[in-house]
Amino acid sequence: MAAVKGTILVTGANGGLGSAIAQQVASRPEFSAYRGLYTVRDATRSDALASFGATYPDDILTLDLTKLDNVRQVADEVNTRVSAGDLPPIRALILNAGFQDFGNQSWTDDGFDNTFAANYLGHWLLTLLLLKSIDKEEGRIIVIGSQGHDPSDPRNARIGVFDDPKYQTFVSDAAGFEAIAKGTWSPASEDASWRGGFRRYSASKLFLVMMQHELQTRLDADPALNNVRVLGVDPGTMISGLQRLAPWVIRVLLFKIIYPFILYVNPNGPLRSTSRSAGDVLEAAFAVGEGGNPPKDKYFDGRTPLETGEESRDAAKRDMVWKETVRMTGLRETETILANWK
Ligand SMILES: NC(=O)c1ccc[n+]([C@@H]2O[C@H](COP(=O)([O-])OP(=O)(O)OC[C@H]3O[C@@H](n4cnc5c(N)ncnc54)[C@H](OP(=O)(O)O)[C@@H]3O)[C@@H](O)[C@H]2O)c1
Repeated sequence: MAAVKGTILVTGANGGLGSAIAQQVASRPEFSAYRGLYTVRDATRSDALASFGATYPDDILTLDLTKLDNVRQVADEVNTRVSAGDLPPIRALILNAGFQDFGNQSWTDDGFDNTFAANYLGHWLLTLLLLKSIDKEEGRIIVIGSQGHDPSDPRNARIGVFDDPKYQTFVSDAAGFEAIAKGTWSPASEDASWRGGFRRYSASKLFLVMMQHELQTRLDADPALNNVRVLGVDPGTMISGLQRLAPWVIRVLLFKIIYPFILYVNPNGPLRSTSRSAGDVLEAAFAVGEGGNPPKDKYFDGRTPLETGEESRDAAKRDMVWKETVRMTGLRETETILANWK
């Protein structure tokens, strides 16, 4: 057997896109030299992962991203296993887990909005902690984005979520960031429809895209980590578990009847199968790039490069969000190897 080249770590691997990525890691010959490591919330529901040969607890870890203690515990376990040589360094860290509450708003024990914590805060902390185990030459971190991160994305015009001018900018200052983090921005008490939840989901995706740019800037300035690449992929609209809390019209009529039919007749159209998007995510994680120069700090809609939204490109805003995130996660100097972590 060939030497193991690296670990591919995927969060939310029990879900639609996550398990499609795991399926491709297990079946495509070019990934046979990589070790898949998957985080799930409930390991007893990991039948799909088990069918691809993943076993608990060797290849499957339980992680709830809304619990920062759990994030620290899992990162510690991975870092210990990598430093002991039990796991190869992380070649691809795929921040795939995602949660959308469609209006059923809920909070973590620490008082954060669950959507913010699951999609952004937990992933941010996990990434900073796992830099210890990243492959320093070839490592890539893949953020899973969404059209929602950019209110001016033409795909959002159809759904009317950002029509109100007050929702066309997500965040202006630290107080605004705190309001999103605590779920008092676009709360269900103000708009209990799926639109209120979609805006909170979209804000969490903006922060992930901001993290893509900001982390890359900070990695580039760090001699020990400047070969690590951060990329983003919008996987497009897929039929998955994400819609489980949506109202009947969305969950059943759209996603179980109308969309499967459209996908069947037009498999390469705007609706995407989880398998197609899994291929796009793995392409971002492993693409050699033109002239052997792999992409860095690029964001793709599937495989098409896309400029990220205006707010994500605002360096001062990104710095504010980063500093507030350090405060909210309580990150300590000894927990990350990133030089400029504050
Ligand atoms: N589906 C779409 O149309 C679409 C569009 C754009 C972007 N995306 C993004 O694509 C990614 C994959 O989503 P998907 O469509 O495959 O949805 P999915 O089937 O619901 O998968 C999401 C996974 O995230 C996990 N998750 C949710 N909350 C979590 C938490 N607090 N801690 C840890 N894991 C948690 C879920 O775990 P459980 O299995 O335990 O619930 C689930 O396995 C997400 O980042 C999503 O935002 C999806």
